[in-house]
Amino acid sequence: MGQLSFLQFLRNQLKSFPPPTKCDLSGKTVLVVGANVGIGLEAAKHFARMQPGKLIVTARDAAKGQVTVSTIQAQTGFGNVHSRVLELSSFASVAAFADAFEKEEERLDIYVYNAGISTRQYAVTEDGWESTLQINDLSCALLSMLLLPRMLESAKTSISRPRMVIVASEVHFWATVNDEERASPRILDKANNKEYCEASAMGRRYFFSKMLDVMVVRELAARLPSDSPLIVDCVNPGFCSSELGRNSSLIFRAVSYLLQFGITRTPEQGSRQLVWAALGRSEKEDELRGAYVSDHDVEEPSDFLLSEQGAKDQKRIFDEIIETLSEVSTKFKAVVDKYLAE
Ligand SMILES: NC(=O)c1ccc[n+]([C@@H]2O[C@H](COP(=O)([O-])OP(=O)(O)OC[C@H]3O[C@@H](n4cnc5c(N)ncnc54)[C@H](OP(=O)(O)O)[C@@H]3O)[C@@H](O)[C@H]2O)c1
Repeated sequence: MGQLSFLQFLRNQLKSFPPPTKCDLSGKTVLVVGANVGIGLEAAKHFARMQPGKLIVTARDAAKGQVTVSTIQAQTGFGNVHSRVLELSSFASVAAFADAFEKEEERLDIYVYNAGISTRQYAVTEDGWESTLQINDLSCALLSMLLLPRMLESAKTSISRPRMVIVASEVHFWATVNDEERASPRILDKANNKEYCEASAMGRRYFFSKMLDVMVVRELAARLPSDSPLIVDCVNPGFCSSELGRNSSLIFRAVSYLLQFGITRTPEQGSRQLVWAALGRSEKEDELRGAYVSDHDVEEPSDFLLSEQGAKDQKRIFDEIIETLSEVSTKFKAVVDKYLAE
């Protein structure tokens, strides 16, 4: 499926999937980024029920993290849950988190980057980026690359392969890179430009950011050596009733509210997709390399991403992300140079 009509979207919403099958996660460390509410919290609970060696969740502050830990412990009976503070609108926070993780955590086997925002309001972070671009994409790429060496290290002492799961969305089917962005010296700078963001760009920004997530996963998987043990995929949880729309327009929230009565999935139902992307298809894991996962299966991403132009834009955007983040973190640059092909 390289396209997604509204009718198909509705049909997808009506599909149902069983709760995750329990896997043996003993000795494994699982990290869920953005786990204090919504789909991330529910995914973390599913992992907790499988009793991993250790479960780490992130929240923006220590108090939210503590509540998350207590909730997971109370609802699953699993004790070895720990929270770490991570603010994704700050590259300094991401770098500090990754440094602390490297020093204090022995391994990382399953990593789920779930955090994200959806907003039409232009806001700029302390690093000068439009907040959606930074939280959904740039911090995702930064954190994922900084944690990648620990995941590869963990693969050496595990019979199963590490998985890196980025939470994307089917709305990427409704996004593209437009001519104006493409004509700019850097697509990312155009997308980040304040005047540009005042126009219709913010209306489609969330879709664009989720397309970038799919691009990053596809390009990262393509640039890792073909014999790398690391599986990188992205996943669509489906349209779920969560707090994601808290900053959306009144109309969007009204439509979402009405849709809730018919077709939205609960965050728990959405989280089943994340768990599948992290643990499913274990008998043919290579099929998940760079895959777009939806409805418990590997699906084709959008026609645009599969097109020649989409492939060029994807490579260009990935290079721009590398260029941007190399200026933010020398460690990021070192990881890229060591582990990724050009
Ligand atoms: N809900 C849907 O219909 C749907 C559909 C497709 C894809 N998705 C994707 O699924 C993921 C989870 O969404 P959700 O629906 O569960 O949304 P949610 O309830 O709003 O949860 C989002 C999570 O991201 C965290 N987060 C947001 N900004 C952050 C920041 N600056 N630093 C650190 N953490 C931050 C939130 O923490 P706070 O609570 O502190 O803000 C929260 O833990 C997102 O990537 C979203 O794009 C959702």
